[in-house]
Amino acid sequence: CGIVGYTGFQDAYNIVINGLRRLEYRGYDSAGIVLDTPGGSFQVAKTKGKVDDLVQVSTELDKTAHVGMGHTRWATHGVPSDRNSHPHISNSGKIALVHNGIIENYDTIKTMLLEKGYSFQSETDTEVLVNLIEYFMEINRDFDFPTAVRFALNEVYGAYAITVMHDDYPGLLVVARLGSPLAIGLGTKEYFIASDASPFVEFTKEAIYLEEGHMATISLEKGVEIRTIVDNSVIIPEVQQLKLSLEQIEKGGYEHFMLKEIFEQPKSILDTMRGRLLVEEGIIKMAGIWDHQERLTNASRIIIIACGTSWHAGLIGEYLIEEFARIPVEVEYASEFRYRNPILSEKDVVIAISQSGETADTMAALKLAKERGAFIYGICNVVDSSIARITDAGSYTHAGPEIGVASTKAFTAQLTILSLIALKLGKHNGHLSNQEFMKLITELDQLPNKVQEVLDSTNEHVKEIAKNYIDATNFLYLGRGYNYPSALEGALKLKEISYIHAEGYPAAEMKHGPIALIDENMPIVIIAPKRGHYDKIVSNVQEIKARKGQVIAVVNDGDEQVASMADHVIEIPDTSECFSPIIAAVPLQLLSYYIAVYRGANVDQPRNLAKSVTVE
Ligand code: G6P
Repeated sequence: CGIVGYTGFQDAYNIVINGLRRLEYRGYDSAGIVLDTPGGSFQVAKTKGKVDDLVQVSTELDKTAHVGMGHTRWATHGVPSDRNSHPHISNSGKIALVHNGIIENYDTIKTMLLEKGYSFQSETDTEVLVNLIEYFMEINRDFDFPTAVRFALNEVYGAYAITVMHDDYPGLLVVARLGSPLAIGLGTKEYFIASDASPFVEFTKEAIYLEEGHMATISLEKGVEIRTIVDNSVIIPEVQQLKLSLEQIEKGGYEHFMLKEIFEQPKSILDTMRGRLLVEEGIIKMAGIWDHQERLTNASRIIIIACGTSWHAGLIGEYLIEEFARIPVEVEYASEFRYRNPILSEKDVVIAISQSGETADTMAALKLAKERGAFIYGICNVVDSSIARITDAGSYTHAGPEIGVASTKAFTAQLTILSLIALKLGKHNGHLSNQEFMKLITELDQLPNKVQEVLDSTNEHVKEIAKNYIDATNFLYLGRGYNYPSALEGALKLKEISYIHAEGYPAAEMKHGPIALIDENMPIVIIAPKRGHYDKIVSNVQEIKARKGQVIAVVNDGDEQVASMADHVIEIPDTSECFSPIIAAVPLQLLSYYIAVYRGANVDQPRNLAKSVTVE
């Protein structure tokens, strides 16, 4: 979910609505706003649907307020509906609250409040919290509003970022965080609150990222005061200078963010390598590894944890690190790892991969690894995100903000970082000869150009191919070796945005099940670059054609054998097998993009998904 809050001299309505639009990547099944109009009571509007729907139902609001807050939701407790949308208002109508996260013990608290005579309009955990705050003010007459918020928070378990307003405390916003992110923008005579800095970058470059377990009171009179939730100790915050610019988060002439981000890949890969890959000097320089080189190369095992697309990058990371650095690697879904009491020791290195740096499961898995003494390393895209901050060391993928829910440029940037790490460790521990190292880094250096080449040569062609598959109901994606995870990622891209069922498989596994599905209605995407088990793939294609499956083959320029059997051929430039997933990803992204566009789907905000999943 996304939160925006404002107190200052501008119109709060505009700031909150525009801010929510920028945060819609965090969830978009319902939205709401509350304004504190001077002298009047709260003005509230909320609805199931997107921020545009919220604007439709806000026409009657008195928009003169200079204080307000809003929310865009990704449902956890309670279906997306008007009633379950935030803000939630307390029984007296005086307290309003927006919340991102989950209150785990809300049921117990709800039962207690019901006994005390409270009633509830929604099925949400959030409504329980707002009434608990009210309850504390009621039973302790000497409690002021921030104190009641603090006492209530000490009663709840779970994860939250909240913003609360009280009608009797005009101009005051109380915010708190445990597990979900919250940033406070510091303007001149105005303050902003948001789940990330994007809603306020055009107004100020100064921000405080609220730390875990802290709450803040924000008002024009007293500024920002931060205290701990547990014992109310005063905290002196660190003010950060934001580097994000507004242009970076806008569409720049493309129809969708996803297409823009696909086309940004030559640049995002280059930015990820910039200053790290120094081909002429024959070195890879990575600040994150520098101080910990021994710890990493001496690791008895590397465990990569991630979710979604980042997990697919992790699988390719396993191939890379094992091949070049000869260190055993395991790749796990963060959500499985954290709950299975994993065996970990101080000799283990855990690498978390996360575009957002906020994914709740990945964060929790990392905390567990840290507690058990493992060295933890982060590969994140969002600077200063929660994961980036708790890791012992790490490398940012400098892909720039990724707004489209389906991950594209963050994925190829993750692969770039993993390639750099694998080659660097392999060089350092002597498993990679100087000659091989030089050959590989020279190829790595050419990737931005090759990705540009593949964008230029395949975009229109893939768009045409896509037209043939608008009505498909199933798709198979097959690849071997490094391109087995490419197949998984290709299938994920298609299902996420087009809602066509798709599965990725290692090509050889096809005969153990999926082959039963193949007939003339089954499109099968085969990733078959020349280097990497090509002959084996040729046999797989023969097996498919013998069963009349339709083959869309991603092959190297000039390929004849697979190309002669395929229904559609997409040519990509040649590179070492280990880097081929970076190039092969591009036409697969385009294929799913165009199929989804032809089907009229909302590419940037597919149904039920969120860009940043801050609940487990
Ligand atoms: C969500 C997004 C995916 C992403 C996954 C992991 O499901 O929709 O695109 O791969 O979370 O996110 P992370 O930010 O940790 O990479």
